[in-house]
Amino acid sequence: MSDSPHTDSMFRPGSFNGKTVLVTGGGTGLGRSIGQYLLGLGARLVICGRREEVIAKAAQQMGEEVGGDVLARACDVREPKQIEALLEAAYSRFGRVDAVVNNAAGNFICPTERLSYNAFDTVVDIVLKGTYNTTLAFGKRWIADRTPGAFLNICTTYAWTGSGFVVPSAVAKSGVLILTRSLASEWGKYDIRLNAVAPGPFPTEGAWSRLMPPEVEQQFDPSKKIPLGRFGEHQELANLAAYLLSDFAAYITGACVTIDGGEWLRGAGEFNGLESLSPQQWDGIQSGMRAARAKKAQAEARDRSSGDE
Ligand code: HXC
Ligand code: NAP
Repeated sequence: MSDSPHTDSMFRPGSFNGKTVLVTGGGTGLGRSIGQYLLGLGARLVICGRREEVIAKAAQQMGEEVGGDVLARACDVREPKQIEALLEAAYSRFGRVDAVVNNAAGNFICPTERLSYNAFDTVVDIVLKGTYNTTLAFGKRWIADRTPGAFLNICTTYAWTGSGFVVPSAVAKSGVLILTRSLASEWGKYDIRLNAVAPGPFPTEGAWSRLMPPEVEQQFDPSKKIPLGRFGEHQELANLAAYLLSDFAAYITGACVTIDGGEWLRGAGEFNGLESLSPQQWDGIQSGMRAARAKKAQAEARDRSSGDE
């Protein structure tokens, strides 16, 4: 056990024995952390990404760190044929696939009026089309084989609030959320579950290099917007992902679990900005309000006594 329970493994070793899980974009960042955790719990792991060398290296390192069996294969989730080839490779290597984490994404900050049509398409195609392509391929297979399955879609909190400067990603992630909820209803009868997670900021090289360049980070420290006062730890997300994919969550489908230290609610609540007032300022505000109440009560008492005369 570490000093911080939130960075410990929530599951017992062997909890994923016999299961095969695909993590798209599993060669880097959060996908890699989730995949490596499941591998360490006994899952057989399939990872994909566009860059062959990145996933090959990740597979090798994961094997060295936690052991187990990893199939790493280049695949662009925008291309249905490539996903079908990935599916065939996974079934031929492992004989089954039990769960899919739709994690692959593209994103960058940019004023929307500066985006080319191709820039908008690129992000939406990776995030939304990539997710529904993968979902369709594996869902069809599970339905045909009459085998249960679980999808976990990596969303964001701005899927429901929207956000400027990442509009293609916001549009696409909100589509992913609705895909999750729609198919949770439609495919429940096949024992296929779909859930989502909505992480707040979890530092990764991929996200930070595109969303937090130094000029932005200096002006806009996202950790200051988080009630719990810190970024998320990868293991916290990996624990949640493992739970939602596991049989312990067999009765959970169509859910989107927010894991953001309270960030989006702080942005949403009308008066949450008052956090910046000092105790002295609060003392002044409260004594001013008390004085105003007392003055009003005195005036009311005077009015009453003059009415009695
Ligand atoms: C404006 C940009 C741009 C930028 C690319 N483009 N970057 N426009 N500002 N910073 C434009 C290009 O000019 C081009 O349009 C079009 O987008 C496609 O760019 P390419 O470089 O040709 O595409 P590609 O090589 O496929 O790369 C895709 C990518 C890239 C999305 C642009 O960033 C990528 O590979 N991302 C994958 C990983 C990633 O994004 N990870 C972060 C996920 S974090 P033209 O018209 O010139 O052809 C995340 C967090 C969310 O989602 C929540 C945080 C709290
Ligand atoms: P990341 O490391 O950049 O992960 C994105 C992965 O997607 C990369 O491995 C990338 O590999 C892969 N990918 C991109 N386009 C692809 C395509 N067309 N086909 C297949 N794979 C593709 O970033 P991350 O921060 O870990 O993000 C992981 C997920 O978490 C994303 O869904 C992101 O939106 C979500 N998220 C992240 C945060 C955060 O704070 N980090 C917050 C909320 C949500 P290639 O480039 O080799 O293809």
